[in-house]
Amino acid sequence: MRTITINTLQTMKAQGEKFAVLTAYDASLAHFICEAEVEVILVGDSLGMVIQGHDTTLPVTTEQVAYHTAAVKRGVKRSLVIADMPFMSYSSEQQALDNATVLMQAGAQMVKLEGGDWLCDTFYLLSERGIPTCAHLGLTPQSVNKFGGYKVQGRDADNAQQILDDALALQDAGADLLVLECVPTQLAREITNALSIPVIGIGAGPDTDGQVLVVYDMLGITPQRTPKFTKNFLLEHEDIPSALQAYVEEVKNGTFPAEEHSYK
Ligand code: KIV
Repeated sequence: MRTITINTLQTMKAQGEKFAVLTAYDASLAHFICEAEVEVILVGDSLGMVIQGHDTTLPVTTEQVAYHTAAVKRGVKRSLVIADMPFMSYSSEQQALDNATVLMQAGAQMVKLEGGDWLCDTFYLLSERGIPTCAHLGLTPQSVNKFGGYKVQGRDADNAQQILDDALALQDAGADLLVLECVPTQLAREITNALSIPVIGIGAGPDTDGQVLVVYDMLGITPQRTPKFTKNFLLEHEDIPSALQAYVEEVKNGTFPAEEHSYK
């Protein structure tokens, strides 16, 4: 695999070629994920749940994401590394700039922020300062208490329109990528077609430009019940490298996610 940059992902979108994304939190798994030719590795704040054992991502700090980003980066040669900005680490523009700097200096090549058009000035500022950004809309887990649980978003017309408007506004403000989490397939398709930047789905159906899963979920090492949008690829494969390869193949040939992993 060539070294992946944001330009690679834009070209893949333009050519209708799907790309694969997985989370990672340590150098060893990141190495195997990169060797399986997963284009993008996300050091997600999901580490609060799958590594630290919390119920939500809220307790995660910038220093913890920076620690895991540095570890992941040491295991990766060619995949693009994105680091999550944790809960309340971007509540003002200056705070966002300071914390994004910490993550970029730890080895991230892009930072991801959850939220809608209220973040436009922040995306503009980071972008202007040379920090690539990924937006995250739909079910944004840092707002779980506002949503009253981990619920599918964008099912009614007003909410769907709001998510589309937010996506367009964040793209205009400089976002380089968008993650769409737990939205109906049809809305994800509409947003993917409306945006020029690549869109990555999780529980968003098969029509986004890329797919992301939490690596612990797709290797079956999540003790709790997993959401319907995940799939345990280790069940049908004998070792971790083969399971990772199967994930990449199924994302690229469009067999994952299937209808059973998607929402109407
Ligand atoms: O934290 C995370 O792992 C994420 C993905 C689920 C998109 O944000």
